[in-house]
Amino acid sequence: MPSDVWALAATAQLPEDQQTPQQRAAVALATQLADELIAADAAVIAVPLYNFGISQHVKTWIDLLIASPQLRPGGEGAPLAGRAISFVIARGGGYGPGTPREGWDHATPYLRRIFADVFQADVEIVECELTLADVNPAMAELRDTAAALRVQANERAAETGRALAQRVGVGAA
Ligand SMILES: Cc1cc2nc3c(=O)[nH]c(=O)nc-3n(C[C@H](O)[C@H](O)[C@H](O)COP(=O)(O)O)c2cc1C
Repeated sequence: MPSDVWALAATAQLPEDQQTPQQRAAVALATQLADELIAADAAVIAVPLYNFGISQHVKTWIDLLIASPQLRPGGEGAPLAGRAISFVIARGGGYGPGTPREGWDHATPYLRRIFADVFQADVEIVECELTLADVNPAMAELRDTAAALRVQANERAAETGRALAQRVGVGAA
C-alpha cells in the first residue's frame, strides 16, 4: 500500500468530480477494503507487536477503513456491529502485570479501541508472548514460561476457532 494513500483518502472530502484522480483511487481502495471486511462472516487477523505498537501496514489498513464512506465515524449505521473479529497477537517480550514493561504494549488496547469501540465489533483477543525466548539468549531463563504460554495460547486459539466456526455455521470438529 503506498504510504500516501491514507492522506489522499482522508483529504478527499470534496464532491467526486472535484477530487484528483489520486484521491479518487485512494477512496476506491478504502471502499474496497471496507467492503471486504463488511462482507466477511467473521475475521481472524494476526498482528505482531512491533516497536511497542502495530506495524505501519496494519495502521494504514485501519486508517483506510476509518476513511472509507462505509465505516467513517459519523456515517450511517454501524456495518460491523456485532461482527466476530478475532485478533491473534504475538509479542516477543513479556508485558504482564508486574513486569518491567507492563503497559508498553500499545497494540492490543488500540486494536480493542478501534474494533470494539469505534466499529462496535465483537472482539476476541488470542495472545502469545515471550515468542523470542527460544532465539534470544538474554531471554534463556524465560524459555519454560514461554513454552507454557505457547501451550495456553494454542488452546485458546483452538477454543476461539471452534466458537467462531459454530457461530458462522461452519462445522467444527
Ligand atoms: C521490527 C520488529 C520489531 C519488534 N518489536 C517488538 C516489540 O516492541 N516488543 C516485542 O515484544 N516484540 C517485538 N518484536 C518481536 C515480535 O513481536 C515477535 O517476533 C512476534 O512473534 C512476531 O511475530 P512474527 O514472528 O509472526 O512476525 C519485534 C519484531 C520485529 C521484527
